[in-house]
Amino acid sequence: MNLPKNPLPYTLVAHDRHDERHQGAVTIPIYQNTLFSYARCDEPGHSFKYSRMGNPTVQELEKRVAALEYGEKAQCFASGMAAISAAILSVVRAGDHIVCVDQVYFGTREFLEFFLHRYGVEITYVDGTSMESITEAIRENTSLIYLESPTSYYFQLQDLSACVKLAQSRKIMTIIDNTWASPCFQNPLKLGIDLVVHSLTKYVGGHSDVLGGAVIGSAELIDKLSRIDHQLLGGVMTPHSASLLLRGMRTLPLRMERLSGSATTMAEYFSKVPCIRKVNFPGLPGHPQHELAVRQMSGYGSLMSIEVNGTVDQAKDWVDQLRYFRIGLSFGGYESLALVVGPTPDSTPEHPVSLIRLNIGLEDPADLIEDADSIQSFFPSRQKFSKSG
Ligand SMILES: Cc1ncc(COP(=O)(O)O)c(C=O)c1O
Repeated sequence: MNLPKNPLPYTLVAHDRHDERHQGAVTIPIYQNTLFSYARCDEPGHSFKYSRMGNPTVQELEKRVAALEYGEKAQCFASGMAAISAAILSVVRAGDHIVCVDQVYFGTREFLEFFLHRYGVEITYVDGTSMESITEAIRENTSLIYLESPTSYYFQLQDLSACVKLAQSRKIMTIIDNTWASPCFQNPLKLGIDLVVHSLTKYVGGHSDVLGGAVIGSAELIDKLSRIDHQLLGGVMTPHSASLLLRGMRTLPLRMERLSGSATTMAEYFSKVPCIRKVNFPGLPGHPQHELAVRQMSGYGSLMSIEVNGTVDQAKDWVDQLRYFRIGLSFGGYESLALVVGPTPDSTPEHPVSLIRLNIGLEDPADLIEDADSIQSFFPSRQKFSKSG
C-alpha cells in the first residue's frame, strides 16, 4: 500500500493504488502461505519469512488500522483478547501494579485476575469517572493505567487528557480499549495515550463473521510487542481473516455514521418511554458525562443499555418476543441485538430494576422503534429517578 499523505477516513479505506506486484488486482490477494522462500541465501528479495512473523495481507490491514488511529504502527492479532493480553504483557513486569477501570470488559478483567495474579501483579479497580479515584490508586510500582472509555455496560467515560497528564507525570504507561467508539470517533493516541487496543471483531469486521484484534502505537512500542508478545505467544491473525477485515473496513466510516445516527435516535426514543428508568448512552444531552463525550469523541457507537422498572424475568419476556432484535452478546455488526444483563446494583425485591443491553444495527430505526415499543406493555411506569437521558 502506498497511500497519499494524510488521507481522510473515507479516502483511506476506499483508495488503493494500482499495484503491479499483484497484477493490478484491486484488492490485495490472500497470501495463504506459511513460508516465504528467498531468491538467494543472502538476498531474500523481500522482507517476509514465515507468516507468524508477518504476512502481506495482514500487513496491509495493519497499515490501514494504524493510519485510521493516527498511530505509527499497528500489530494485528487473532482476536481482541489476544491483542489486549499482549498489549498488557508488553508493558507490565512481575510484581508491578495496574490501575484499571472497574467496569472494564469482563474478558480483560478475567485476564488480569486469573493470569496476571500468577505473576504477582496487583490490580486496583477504580471508578473511571473520578480522577481522584484514579490518582489515589497509584502506587510506587504502578506501571500501567488501563482504560476503556466508554465502558460497555453502563457507558461511563474517563477523561483521557487528564489521565494522560497524570500518567506522564508519574512515568506510567496508558492503554485504552477503544472498541466502542471505533477509530472513526475517538483517537486516543492523538491525546497522548501510549497504546490503543481494538476488538476488530466488532465494527471493523462489521458483519459478525470474523474475529480479530489490533494494538496501535509508536513504532518503538509496537516493534517491541511484535517481536516478543505477538510472535512468541503466537496469537496470529490469519490472512483470510485479514482479507475479511479489509473488506469490512471499506465501509467502516459509512456504517459508523449510520450506526451513530440510529443509536442516537433509539436512545432519544427510549429516554421518553415512562417504564424506562435510565438510558445509558453518552450521546444523550442528559448523560452525566455528555460534555466530556462531545469533547473527546466525534460520534457514538451502536451499543447502549436501558434500566427498566421490572424483574429480570419480565425483561427476558420482553426480549424473547422482539422481532428485529436478536438475542446475544457482542456488537458492531449489521444486526440489532438485545441482552438481559441482570438486576442493577441498586435493584431491590420491592423495586426491581433490570439492565438490558442493546446493540443497534443497520435496520431502519422506525422498525426498531415499532418493535421496541412493546416494552410499554411489559413493565409498569413508575416515577423516574436519576435518569441520565
Ligand atoms: C469492549 C470489548 N473489548 C474487547 C473484546 C474482546 O474482543 P474479541 O472477542 O475479539 O476477543 C470485547 C468482546 O466482546 C469487547 O466487548
